[in-house]
Amino acid sequence: MRKWIVAGNWKMHNTISESVALAYAIKEGTTGLKNGEVVVAPPFTALHSVGEAIKGSAVALAAQNMYYEDKGAFTGEVSPSMLTDAGCKYVIIGHSERRKYFNESDENVNLKVMKALATGLKPIVCVGETDGERNKGVTQSVVNRQVRKALAGVNKIDHIVIAYEPVWAIGTGKVATSAQAEDVHDFIRRLLVEIYGCMADDVRILYGGSVTKDNIGELIAMEDIDGALVGGASLKPDDFLGIINKMP
Ligand code: 13P
Repeated sequence: MRKWIVAGNWKMHNTISESVALAYAIKEGTTGLKNGEVVVAPPFTALHSVGEAIKGSAVALAAQNMYYEDKGAFTGEVSPSMLTDAGCKYVIIGHSERRKYFNESDENVNLKVMKALATGLKPIVCVGETDGERNKGVTQSVVNRQVRKALAGVNKIDHIVIAYEPVWAIGTGKVATSAQAEDVHDFIRRLLVEIYGCMADDVRILYGGSVTKDNIGELIAMEDIDGALVGGASLKPDDFLGIINKMP
């Protein structure tokens, strides 16, 4: 039985004090939670403070990105050991916004995944097709390439979480239907089974893209949807807790 995950990607939002207030509200709203995992990914500047705020709670800390070197002359970058030091358990890797605005390639994503694992961080690896790719009918080949390349050289998949985030659904209010999402989740699951055998049964595959407390119920009912990576709706305690409350 896979344990669900609801992860909030706060993106480039919230000062330190706003982040801490949001973290406390989520912490209070999730006391006693046992059957799943709640994760928050604040901006880098707030990681440590949020990490302190959620100590002893059911909420885990994630970073939104990292570099693939331990240290050195890489101005502006943050290393994986800096993230574990700040209290992170997870790190989001290969978000479509990083691929689009910061030219992150599949090869970059792979280097980051390998380094995160070597440092003891659990990568939340994001994949997903654009609008144009879906219209051309190449969704599966795009996702196939992204997953295979991201995981090249990864022998053990037990620390990996995959997030399927169709780019056309991110921040648009245009959520994938549960059937559209399940189609791709099922495809990813079968791909992982092909590469990793029965180990793939335990991998959590999250859906992301315009998730709200009103549409999560249908999505989470699907067999291969194991939770959500939430953007906009993770910034308001009521909306985020509303999603968590819909988990089985
Ligand atoms: P929205 O929930 O705002 O569509 O963002 C999804 C996302 O990109 C999460 O990583």
